[in-house]
Amino acid sequence: MALQRRLVVVVVTASSLLCVYVLCVHLEKPPSWSTPPLKDAPGFSKAPGRSGSSAPQEPLRKETGGDRRTRPPPTAAAHPEVTAPPTAARHQPAEARDPGVSEAGSRYQGGDRAGTKGPPAPQRQQLIGGDGPTDPPFIGDTYKSEDVPPQTECRDGIRSRVKKTAFRGRFLEHIPVLQWAEDVTREQHQRLSRYPGAHGWGGIDYETLAETLSVLNASANRLLLDDWNHRGNASACSRCAVVGNGGILKESKAGEEIDGHHYVFRTNGAIVKGFERDVGSRTTHYTFSTNTLMNSLRSYAGFRGPPQSTETRYVFLPDHDRDFLLMKAAATHRAVERGRERAEDPTKYFGADVSAEKLKMYHPDFIRYLRNRFLRSSALKTKYKALYRPSTGAVMLLAALHSCDQVSAYGFMTPDYRKYSDHYYDKSYRPVGFFINHDLRMEMSLWQQLHQEGLIRLYGHR
Ligand SMILES: *[C@@H]1O[C@H](CO)[C@@H](O)[C@H](O)[C@H]1NC(C)=O
Ligand SMILES: *[C@@H]1O[C@H](CO)[C@@H](O)[C@H](O)[C@H]1NC(C)=O
Repeated sequence: MALQRRLVVVVVTASSLLCVYVLCVHLEKPPSWSTPPLKDAPGFSKAPGRSGSSAPQEPLRKETGGDRRTRPPPTAAAHPEVTAPPTAARHQPAEARDPGVSEAGSRYQGGDRAGTKGPPAPQRQQLIGGDGPTDPPFIGDTYKSEDVPPQTECRDGIRSRVKKTAFRGRFLEHIPVLQWAEDVTREQHQRLSRYPGAHGWGGIDYETLAETLSVLNASANRLLLDDWNHRGNASACSRCAVVGNGGILKESKAGEEIDGHHYVFRTNGAIVKGFERDVGSRTTHYTFSTNTLMNSLRSYAGFRGPPQSTETRYVFLPDHDRDFLLMKAAATHRAVERGRERAEDPTKYFGADVSAEKLKMYHPDFIRYLRNRFLRSSALKTKYKALYRPSTGAVMLLAALHSCDQVSAYGFMTPDYRKYSDHYYDKSYRPVGFFINHDLRMEMSLWQQLHQEGLIRLYGHR
């Protein structure tokens, strides 16, 4: 029996290693579908093409285990994730799901609605967007529409500027960025169950959702910049620094400039200690998924856990029920009830002072919207489509784009990325790696485009 089980483990390990190897080889070739770097647009004084750095590296999602694997590619040693318990393997192929309920009726809400002042309106079954005639059902370019009043009266914020750019058709002003207690209804569960992983609630039962998301039941949980009224006056514009972990930040001396923003966003293996001069010391928002956090803790020497300070908020990017369970544990200061992190003490990651008000969770409609409208990689046309999602760093930067009035991006990948190591904290040079679960080249050209349109300021080497 035991021998048999061991044999199965060995076979599974060997085939997944082979699988990862094939994926890596596949991706070494410059994919023909990656968007070419943009030419400098006239009228922009900065030349974005000169900058370089990389997006936060992320573990590769592995098909067989239903989970993702840490970079760098594993050695021959058996990997604990290969034999992950089936509770973690909830990543169902999108095409296996039944499109199910019809979205007829209130399907099209029209991208932009005016009049966003006043208290938050009650949640309504309003949907925005709409699939193109040739979109397969797993795309699901239809989203909940939400009336969250703007947090500032900034006249020249991203939301007003975007209307004059090439992004105006893609940008949905009323997309919900975060999910919270009131999002959980049977109707929403039925709608979102069609989409697996980070793109929906596929594989997560209604009871788990209801019992976990109920802890996010404060207005702070639905606003990314929940403490804005302590930070700026009514007419000021919120300024956010979004910090990726790219090697371009090494020796950048950008720390003071980064800390000078109202908000400082970081992600995954964001090592601050010892790098303050280059990357700053504050963290107001730390973005991660349970999987990327655990993998970062395993992979990056020197990364001891998420930053902790009184101003730090934790923003979960959920792609399993693990994330919901860890989030609930963090809010209640109790051990994780079940699943892969069972019995883990959440204060180990988020400190003893964390409260539910400091926790947030991205809405699956937001992640799907980013994938469909900003990072629709041709990986979605391959058999790997279920593995693909925007990287954690990309979600963080695009969430800032949808929430802040001004965004400066530091440590994100630029066309000269080969000049820099993968991370600013790497002891010696290591090249940026490309895997099928993200499209870092497409993300890189999106950052170029957003910079050229004046919607973000992308840090480049000076
Ligand atoms: C959230 O709080 C409101 C008001 O305090 C309450 O009526 C509602 O039932 C709560 N929702 C959940 C899901 O706990
Ligand atoms: C509000 O903030 C802006 C920008 O920070 C500043 O220029 C302005 O003087 C402030 N207004 C008041 C009333 O404090």
